Amino acid sequence: VDSHPARRRTALVTGASRGIGRAIAAQLAADGYDLLLAARDVDALEDVAAQLRTDQNRVSVATANMADEAEVEALASAQLALAPHLDVLVLAAGAAMSGAIDSLPLRRLDTQLAVNLRAPFHLIQRLLPALRVAAGSSPTGAKVIAIASITGVVSETGLAGYGASKAALISLCETLSAEEGENGVSATALSPGFVDTDMTEWMRDRIDPAEMITVGDVAELTRALCRLSRYAVVPNIVLTRPGAQLWRA
Ligand SMILES: NC(=O)c1ccc[n+]([C@@H]2O[C@H](COP(=O)([O-])OP(=O)(O)OC[C@H]3O[C@@H](n4cnc5c(N)ncnc54)[C@H](OP(=O)(O)O)[C@@H]3O)[C@@H](O)[C@H]2O)c1
Repeated sequence: VDSHPARRRTALVTGASRGIGRAIAAQLAADGYDLLLAARDVDALEDVAAQLRTDQNRVSVATANMADEAEVEALASAQLALAPHLDVLVLAAGAAMSGAIDSLPLRRLDTQLAVNLRAPFHLIQRLLPALRVAAGSSPTGAKVIAIASITGVVSETGLAGYGASKAALISLCETLSAEEGENGVSATALSPGFVDTDMTEWMRDRIDPAEMITVGDVAELTRALCRLSRYAVVPNIVLTRPGAQLWRA
């Protein structure tokens, strides 16, 4: 609970146009956060913003391709222009491409590393001053929540590039908590198996989408994390699906 109710709580959500990021943005809006929503598709972003805007909160949008350094930089600047403090940074934009190690085009590896690791690193670096400001006046501190993947925890054939990028993202979250925890800034990776979104459309003939993890499950955990005191640091949460084999997507 914020002991400074006069200060508006702010959050930046990447990948907010669809899927997990959109569900998290809706949860944060319901909890009264001012939001900056980012993705590439401006029409989709405007639709989400129109749905989440209320009399109580402000919702802005910014388009940014996370594979483009200049656009990531511009997104960070847009956030800093909105408020000097940032309570929650949700990193949900992600690129997933499959391919065995013997044949994955290196270009695809580069794209996944850019979107899933480099852009999160860049945003965290530029927004840390604002996260520290928020943490300085809130008992919950400031939170970075990165949507990683169970594939970043245990390997999955055909997902070497994606899994490596997500393992690196999990490591980035750990080091951020280690470096900034005493300033009240901590990071959590959320590492789900298959979640029913556009990203898992190709799996629908093998796994019934009704039996996948829901975007609401991930949003619910995000909400809980945002309410934890600054003294509870949570490095990584794995969400897996029911079944005898827990350690698979
Ligand atoms: N679905 C799963 O099973 C699953 C499991 C584990 C982890 N994840 C992770 O969860 C996160 C969200 O995925 P999702 O399942 O919600 O997928 P989704 O429905 O396909 O949404 C992906 C989001 O990321 C944005 N995005 C994609 N590439 C981008 C780029 N180059 N620049 C900026 N934004 C980009 C998309 O917006 P635009 O297209 O408008 O840019 C969209 O908002 C990802 O990091 C993903 O790796 C998903």
